[in-house]
Amino acid sequence: MANNNESIHGSWRNRWTFILAATGSAVGLGNIWKFPYITGEYGGGAFVLVYLMCIALVGIPVMMAEVAMGRRGRQSPINSMKALVSEAKAGPGWKLIGWMGALAGFLILSFYSVVAGWSLSYVLKMATGVFTEVDQTVAGDQFNGLLADPSMLMVWHTIFMILTVGVVIRGVNKGIESTITVLMPLLFVLLVILIGYGASKGDIMSAVDFMFAADFSKLSMEAVLVALGHSFFTLSLGMGAIMAYGSYMPRNASIASTVFTVAGLDTLVALLAGLAIFPIVFANGLEPSAGPGLMFVTLPFTFGQMPGGQFFGALFFILVAFAAWSSAISLIEPATAWAVERFKVSRAKACTLIGVIIWALGIGSVLSFNDWSEFHLLPGKTIFDTFDFMTANVMLPLGGLLIALFVGFGMKYHHAYNEMNMKNAGLFNLWYIVLRFVTPVAIAIVFINGLLPECSFNAELLNAETGECGNSVFMTPRFIGGVILAVTYIGIIVKSLQKPSRGLSS
Ligand code: PFF
Repeated sequence: MANNNESIHGSWRNRWTFILAATGSAVGLGNIWKFPYITGEYGGGAFVLVYLMCIALVGIPVMMAEVAMGRRGRQSPINSMKALVSEAKAGPGWKLIGWMGALAGFLILSFYSVVAGWSLSYVLKMATGVFTEVDQTVAGDQFNGLLADPSMLMVWHTIFMILTVGVVIRGVNKGIESTITVLMPLLFVLLVILIGYGASKGDIMSAVDFMFAADFSKLSMEAVLVALGHSFFTLSLGMGAIMAYGSYMPRNASIASTVFTVAGLDTLVALLAGLAIFPIVFANGLEPSAGPGLMFVTLPFTFGQMPGGQFFGALFFILVAFAAWSSAISLIEPATAWAVERFKVSRAKACTLIGVIIWALGIGSVLSFNDWSEFHLLPGKTIFDTFDFMTANVMLPLGGLLIALFVGFGMKYHHAYNEMNMKNAGLFNLWYIVLRFVTPVAIAIVFINGLLPECSFNAELLNAETGECGNSVFMTPRFIGGVILAVTYIGIIVKSLQKPSRGLSS
């Protein structure tokens, strides 16, 4: 195929607009809301280290593969996958990557928009001084009050979906590109201002210590699974968003250096967000492990106690809303592009309809916090929790695993080589080997371990109180069992998706 044509949806003006757009997709609630609170929950430094390893060994190789697939396919992820599968004469099962990705996009955006709505509502609350000099119970009541009020949640969820659809209907260049080129620089400026504020008014040394001093005794298998899932979520991998953006990428741009820049910026923002949030938390003697409420209870309360907090608190939530907005755009783009290609309808029609479906799905997440809080889709998990868990911990890692295996085993070597267009063949081979063997095994081990009940292979090690298996993640029978299962599992996937007669010539 080696499709030299442009995508019918348009092309980025240059390599930098791709970088901005992909960074806009990557930097979102995952960095500012989720990363600090899971770092807090899973004990700080050791978790950060595992997360960084996941980005390097899994995130970056998969992102390179996803961009390459998009640029070679030059269509929406679903249709790019169809084209790539037929070019590689691979089995039809690989097309699952495109479909599962679109579904994941629907599910993620449906709950993502609800949380983004919270941050919109907090811009208003902060700016109007709702938190100024209140005590912590009042801050807690504010958040609980918001969650208990479905109509308020619906209003903000609806506003956020309108903002998102409003950008995407205007197209790749006039809509996405022009919004992102304003939004992203603004976002960085806001972040720098907030770190300056945290450093001057907060306790930055405790924050650095908390984030970078690794205590491995706290590292559970669950923490490793969460770190892996989060590395997919934060880099927007495994669901086609990056593939769609890759399909608008200029042919001559280097994929490897571009991806390193995007992953580097995303990681930087996550760490900087921690450095903006934790100093304020520690300065006020609060706990970093407050869970999802960290950003919506602990932070507003602390801002409310500090000089200039009303202003800087509002700025903080504007930053969060901008970050969420640029990510949401990329969540709805793959399905929109597919609908335009499939039904030959205008972008406005396609995107509006998809937006309405996602908005409706989001009602389930809105009600998870109030009227339907007792309704569980998975054991102990509301609709909101289920969508979050299923996407971040199941669908994205599975999508990433399939992407790595497709480029590693499904696609022809020389097609991957040509598309990557790397000057250094040694580096290409390094990436290729990591993608074929290291990345899939790492994903599968963590994935299978995460889904297996604790101590599946040795029940005696189970600590009845904590529910954890032994002390160490590694070298337990469960871990070794996981490795064996992982390798078998990968073998089965590759065998069953490949056509038996796959020749070497193209
Ligand atoms: N990367 C985004 C974040 O960290 O908030 C979330 C996300 C966006 C996930 C787009 C997946 C995606 F396709």
